[in-house]
Amino acid sequence: MTPTLPDKLRSAARALAGTPIAELFARDPERVERLSVDALGFRADLSKERLSPEALAGLCEHAREAGLAGWIAALLAGEKVNVSEKRPALHPRMRDDADADTLASRQAVAALADAVRRGERRGASGSPFAHVVHLGIGGSDLGPRLVVDALGPAHDERAPGVSFVANVDPAALDRALAPLDAATTLFVIASKSYTTQETLTNASAARAWLAAALPSGADPGAHFVAATANPGAARAFGVPDTAILPFPEGVGGRFSLWSSVGVTIALALGNEAHAALLAGAHAMDRHFATAPFERNLPVVLALAGVWNASALGYRQRVVVPYAHALGVFASYLQQLSLESNGKRVTRDGSPVEGRTAPALWGGVGTDGQHAFFQWLHQGTDVVPVEFVVPAAPVRGDRGRHALLVANALAQAQALAFGRATPDAARASPGDRPSTTLVTPALDARTLGALCALYEHRTFVEGILWGINPFDQFGVELGKILAGPIAEALDGRGDLAGADASTRALVGYIRSRLAPAG
Ligand code: F6P
Repeated sequence: MTPTLPDKLRSAARALAGTPIAELFARDPERVERLSVDALGFRADLSKERLSPEALAGLCEHAREAGLAGWIAALLAGEKVNVSEKRPALHPRMRDDADADTLASRQAVAALADAVRRGERRGASGSPFAHVVHLGIGGSDLGPRLVVDALGPAHDERAPGVSFVANVDPAALDRALAPLDAATTLFVIASKSYTTQETLTNASAARAWLAAALPSGADPGAHFVAATANPGAARAFGVPDTAILPFPEGVGGRFSLWSSVGVTIALALGNEAHAALLAGAHAMDRHFATAPFERNLPVVLALAGVWNASALGYRQRVVVPYAHALGVFASYLQQLSLESNGKRVTRDGSPVEGRTAPALWGGVGTDGQHAFFQWLHQGTDVVPVEFVVPAAPVRGDRGRHALLVANALAQAQALAFGRATPDAARASPGDRPSTTLVTPALDARTLGALCALYEHRTFVEGILWGINPFDQFGVELGKILAGPIAEALDGRGDLAGADASTRALVGYIRSRLAPAG
């Protein structure tokens, strides 16, 4: 059953929907304080949302009635919160070094990263590794890619260069390999299942590339590390036992960054940064576990998300980090939110009442201001925006950083309050809601906490929509259908059972495919 919003909240939403945001500020001089949450050096300011402190209190009450405290405790205790697959969601455990298994896994990751960085683990021809190519897709790509992109490159001459290849499009791997020397290239195969077609195809292509370039008789297996919950399959592929970093089945794909998949982070940024990332996430776990709902960052952000989607009916969410380092953040959140909460049946299989996750997209500020902000300010659709703004730069001068921050605050101000002018083309209607999340300077610890914050927010939203945020059965059908289509494109099989459009497209594309070389 979907825990539907109580009538009281629905009528509050109707009243707020007709009230200008400026009037909400005028009515309550303490609005900003009452709708801001400070924790772990973060500030979430929800005062520009179409929300009142009373509605937020009502949402907290609703969350209590929906049993949220029990769900949070169950998640963090490693209970089977993934009800359809009957398993726990173990990502919080992966960042708790009080757990003996976690500690052992982290030590294995750190030892391997150290051995590569010190040149103790070498390629088949005896050369130290100078470059790492991370092969993985979905969560096995986006999490580590986000972190390495945000925090790298390391100021350490022993750190290898790192590139990421996710797409099965040969252009992706071929482009990544073009400047590299096989003798000094290490591949990290990141795949929980070790069955993902894109990753395995790229891993096989990488092995063929190594075999062609290494001296004859050299073992390409020495150039692979695997992070997986299926070590047997990695072994069968040829990855040496000492380079297989297993992790538990209970770590969901979009959370694999916290598992041994983080070996790429340790390789790129060093074990200290990797540990700080995990410690930041663990600190957010503790906050999530212990803070009262009204002061709990993930809970309050989730309640605002449910409010926007379910009470006010907004069907999109735009996320704009004002941080060049967070260039991958919108894509990362897109997978986290949409693969988790893009569901239409509840945990017991009945249809959800109302709607679940809105579409999520975004891009960095200030670049986005010159792309989609026109649409946000004056378009016919109103879309709540989430500004993520580091208060201070980790590196770089304060002057330019202040300009960046000024732009973020100005955009939020313009969206909320608009500009009245008799010239209709120049008028900005305002009344476009936003949240501003101010973060500490974006170091490894902060980034860990930020990712955990959004993970828990997504979990809470899923619980309040009555769905299981930890499965993703919707992605399976397309994977199954791709097999026979690939065979038909290759001239094997005729797709007899397929629809006319697919068969015609296969025929058309086959007639234009260059003959296999
Ligand atoms: O897109 C489906 C999915 O299962 C994601 O959840 C996951 O992140 C991705 O594929 C990769 O899966 P694996 O790590 O098993 O290769």
